[in-house]
Amino acid sequence: MLQVEQLETGYGKKQVLFGLSLEVRQGETVAIIGPNGAGKSTALKAICGLIRPWKGEIRFEGELLNGSSPAKNIRRGITFAPQGNRVFPDLTVMENLEIGGYHLPKKELRSRIEYVVAMFPLLRERPKQAAGKLSGGEQQMVALGRALIPKPKLLMLDEPSLGLSPGIVKDVFERIRTISRETGTSILIVEQKVNEVLAISNRVYSLKLGRVFFTGTPDTLIHDKTRMKELFL
Ligand SMILES: Nc1ncnc2c1ncn2[C@@H]1O[C@H](COP(=O)(O)OP(=O)(O)OP(=O)(O)O)[C@@H](O)[C@H]1O
Ligand SMILES: [Mg+2]
Repeated sequence: MLQVEQLETGYGKKQVLFGLSLEVRQGETVAIIGPNGAGKSTALKAICGLIRPWKGEIRFEGELLNGSSPAKNIRRGITFAPQGNRVFPDLTVMENLEIGGYHLPKKELRSRIEYVVAMFPLLRERPKQAAGKLSGGEQQMVALGRALIPKPKLLMLDEPSLGLSPGIVKDVFERIRTISRETGTSILIVEQKVNEVLAISNRVYSLKLGRVFFTGTPDTLIHDKTRMKELFL
């Protein structure tokens, strides 16, 4: 479904990715892990079109995406919940959800919102609350909900557990697993919480200095303590 081949990109003159190759197949949950600054967020930004590839190819359902805008990619079925600043703080919960489906016909938007608020009761209970006044975990639900509104084929999540307490983290991963199981959506997820993300992933890529350092199934990684340590050195 998603194929990234020998991707090179960066910011200005600073190169961050040096020939990154990865793939996500239909229905898979794929984890990207690795130390700070490895280029994990940069990879997701390049895939969704926020930054341009310098070299290499990004293909989605066979179609070349290089240089395609985020808006076009959303229509193709790729959505992205970025790291950090997750919501539009001055807009209400409902307005945040509506933005996720700004391109949909009104009727379809309504039915998608219905579907998403059924999954996250908080969103139904406080639709008029300013999103910036929600707690971190609650904002995460809004961000996840917003990314689900367009019924994505590929859902990309950048550190969905960031800043959340252990109980909420468990809840967020459980929801991601449910989304995968119930909708068959392919998921590409960047995470620092390695054990938790491996528990819900079919395959994993570990990045180091803008390249794939290891790829395989979570099982092979979890049982390889030496390699686990190397990943974050
Ligand atoms: N907007 C930007 N402008 C310039 N350099 C950037 C920008 N965003 C990221 N970088 C640089 O690119 C490199 C990779 O950053 P990236 O955000 O992809 O790392 P990451 O693997 O997601 O790290 P983390 O785990 O800390 O989120 C870093 O050295 C960072 O300083
Ligand atoms: Mg990051």
